[in-house]
Amino acid sequence: MRRRRRTTCAILASVLLCSAFAARECTAAPTDDMVARGKALAIAGDCASCHTADPAKPFAGGKEIDTPFGAVFSPNLTPDSDTGIGGWSDGDCLRALRMGVSPSGAHYYPAFPYPYFTKLIRDDILAIRAYLATLAPVSNKAPPPELRWPLNYRGLMRAWKALFFTPGIIQPDQSKTAEWNRGRYLVEALAHCGACHTPKNAFGAGKRDQAFGGSMVQGMFAPRLDGAERSGLKSWSASDIAEYLQSGRNGHSHAGPLMSEVVVNSTSKMSDADVRAIAVYLKSLPAGASEPQVAPPAPAQMSDGERIYRGACVACHELDGSGSPRIYPPLPGNANLQSANPASTLRIILDGAQTVTTPRAPNAGSMPAYPKLTDQEVADVATYIRNSWGNAAPAVTAVEVAKARAPK
Ligand code: HEC
Ligand code: HEC
Ligand code: HEC
Repeated sequence: MRRRRRTTCAILASVLLCSAFAARECTAAPTDDMVARGKALAIAGDCASCHTADPAKPFAGGKEIDTPFGAVFSPNLTPDSDTGIGGWSDGDCLRALRMGVSPSGAHYYPAFPYPYFTKLIRDDILAIRAYLATLAPVSNKAPPPELRWPLNYRGLMRAWKALFFTPGIIQPDQSKTAEWNRGRYLVEALAHCGACHTPKNAFGAGKRDQAFGGSMVQGMFAPRLDGAERSGLKSWSASDIAEYLQSGRNGHSHAGPLMSEVVVNSTSKMSDADVRAIAVYLKSLPAGASEPQVAPPAPAQMSDGERIYRGACVACHELDGSGSPRIYPPLPGNANLQSANPASTLRIILDGAQTVTTPRAPNAGSMPAYPKLTDQEVADVATYIRNSWGNAAPAVTAVEVAKARAPK
């Protein structure tokens, strides 16, 4: 009885409070649980990576996001009421993430991955919002976008959305396990893996019929995540995928530029269950488009490439390419290396790479940069490692290397 009276009082009090904020929507104060869940969701959505320019001011925005059409700057997500989202209602948040529309009715550019976030369930968006509301408010106004004509005209996004944007959540597939459905939700919605791994059309929209077919992004090639035999994840087990997402490396490969940031900021901090769910979902993807038929490269290019490999690379990667798994990545069977598009391999040879450290794999190694090799030499050694030890991938030309070397 007493308990019931207390509940009635609580309801009455909240009704009174709500009418005091009648202009805003009425929501219960977030619980600690909700905030903790929101924090985990924000990590899985990697919100901080794009919304942090200065590490001392997480989520305060202002980071330049490069797109093929120019730069867009991420806004401030801290609860500052002038420059952040402190004055936003729940409805404003839901509309931004699900419809790509701002409180003033402007359409966002898809550099903000709302084409993925539109699939988020309401409770998850509100939990993320509850977490963001606990951050210290920071005053910081993002610069306006620097996009080329005609995309500098935001109104055009209305047409873009009519053509390429399908709002709405994904219904769970009852014929599949809960783990698979969780994996799909993370990959397709919150963790927006397709934003980098799915090829884009001329308007920057993901090609739905080529999901996870591999794509160029900021000078790197984000490889296929489908079940393609040589350049996809066919040879990786679910445990291999989980290990890669948690530690940035496994017995097949290492996470290079861009993916290493995703690992450090997001996947290495996800729960074991979520990482496993992602791996299970990725393993269920179909094989995808057939891989290109590869004619063996010219013998002269292979022998030139082998000479460079023996001179510069064997110390770490070994004569037979076997390397030392989890320290020096093995090259035979390496999917990323056999991608039709060699961009990631060229970037790594030209720029070198620093292995990421995560709590699960703290030791760091590094691959030296080879800027002094000529375009032809880089093409030769890349062609050699892409076509030795059972590997097969299209030969690389000096023109491709020159393009990769030129500043973006
Ligand atoms: C790949 C980079 C990227 C990621 C990841 C990202 N955002 Fe954003 N976000 C942007 C950009 C860029 C904009 C601005 C778009 C524009 O100006 O049209 C934006 C805009 C927003 C806005 C509108 C803010 C305003 O003031 O108008 C909200 C809210 C938002 N993001 C929330 C999130 C949340 C929550 C997450 C994580 C679940 C997230 N974003 C992840 C790039 C990103
Ligand atoms: C910001 C862009 C970006 C996002 C977002 C992203 N990736 Fe990647 N990913 C890359 C790039 C680039 C590479 C290649 C890195 C390299 O050269 O080592 C890569 C590599 C990988 C690989 C290794 C494939 C291979 O053949 O070696 C896996 C697995 C992977 N990503 C899974 C994911 C998953 C799962 C997600 C979502 C949770 C994701 N990625 C989100 C850019 C991205
Ligand atoms: C000093 C040791 C060392 C030398 C010498 C070296 N590498 Fe590497 N290489 C590494 C390490 C360490 C990595 C992993 C970097 C990372 O974690 O991002 C790597 C990564 C790579 C990758 C990417 C593999 C993957 O799984 O993503 C390729 C391709 C590669 N090296 C080719 C070469 C070639 C070609 C040469 C010679 C021109 C060379 N390496 C010389 C240490 C070395």
